[in-house]
Amino acid sequence: MIEKKEIVMSGIRPTGFLHLGNYFGAIRNYVKMQEDFDCYFMVADLHSLTTHPDTKQLKANVHRVLAENIACGLDPDKVALYCQSQIFETSELYLYLNMLAYTGELEKTVTFKDKVRQNPDNINAGLLTYPVLMSADILLHRAKYVPVGKDQEQHLEIARTYVNRFNYRYGEVFPEPYAFNYNQELVKVPSLDGTGKMSKSENQMATLYLADEDDVIRKKVMKTKTDAGPTEINSAKPDYIINIFELMKLVSTEAVILKFEAEYNNCTIRYGDMKKQLAEDMVAFISPIRNRINTILKDEQYLKDIMKKGAIKARLSAGATMLKVREAIGLNY
Ligand code: TRP
Repeated sequence: MIEKKEIVMSGIRPTGFLHLGNYFGAIRNYVKMQEDFDCYFMVADLHSLTTHPDTKQLKANVHRVLAENIACGLDPDKVALYCQSQIFETSELYLYLNMLAYTGELEKTVTFKDKVRQNPDNINAGLLTYPVLMSADILLHRAKYVPVGKDQEQHLEIARTYVNRFNYRYGEVFPEPYAFNYNQELVKVPSLDGTGKMSKSENQMATLYLADEDDVIRKKVMKTKTDAGPTEINSAKPDYIINIFELMKLVSTEAVILKFEAEYNNCTIRYGDMKKQLAEDMVAFISPIRNRINTILKDEQYLKDIMKKGAIKARLSAGATMLKVREAIGLNY
């Protein structure tokens, strides 16, 4: 008997370069999930139109996201890796879900309110219905698990609301989708300037990108804040020193970390040496990924083939769902 795996779906917006926070927070999770689940991973190019109507860079950005994810270990033979706009069924389901979506609820969504504030000149209906489109992405595959960060939780709650409205009105078609993470405690990837998490839009010098050249990585790491060092045995570490240790835990060996912990505790630590070590360990971690990204990006035909193969897989699943949807609604004349 062939065991049917549970279905996982997630989307990545093609805006900007992936960084270490994305790697440890999301992509590494995807790579693990591809072994245990039936995975659909999508580049959300339609979503990017809600905030980035200029499409000159779109193709390059879509290619980059695909290359970055493959370079990190996503296997296009194991998962459906595809581009949202190539799944035409998405737009159809989006339309039906819009009838179950109340504008009052959408106006209260945190991400919508944020975007209105950031971009008051372009409050388009697509922006308002962003969570409806995201629900369509997920429900098209009748996915149960959605690996996303905290900022997307509200969108999933909205998706569950539409599932319940649809199922109640037209009959049971969709399961409720839930956020998924392997490790309950999310891995901490602090930014290099000691201000919270490493994240896409903020200070570039405080963020390590998978595309960064070796010298750029070294320069960024060496600039992190330290001080003259501890003066008392076994003293508590200031936040910015804890951050350096946290970053080491991501890429350095256990022995290296223990050595610097001991030196910190007996007040012989030299932060310059510690940062040099961290810089080299980061280079050793990032440079093979970066090289793979660049190799993949040079092969446009390969990327096209990947997208075509991904779209075929995704449309097979989407097509089966849409038959059920049309039948449930009564659009099967
Ligand atoms: N909104 C998500 C983000 O900004 C991207 C996304 C689009 C998505 N469609 C999705 C995530 C479907 C999960 C499932 O990160």
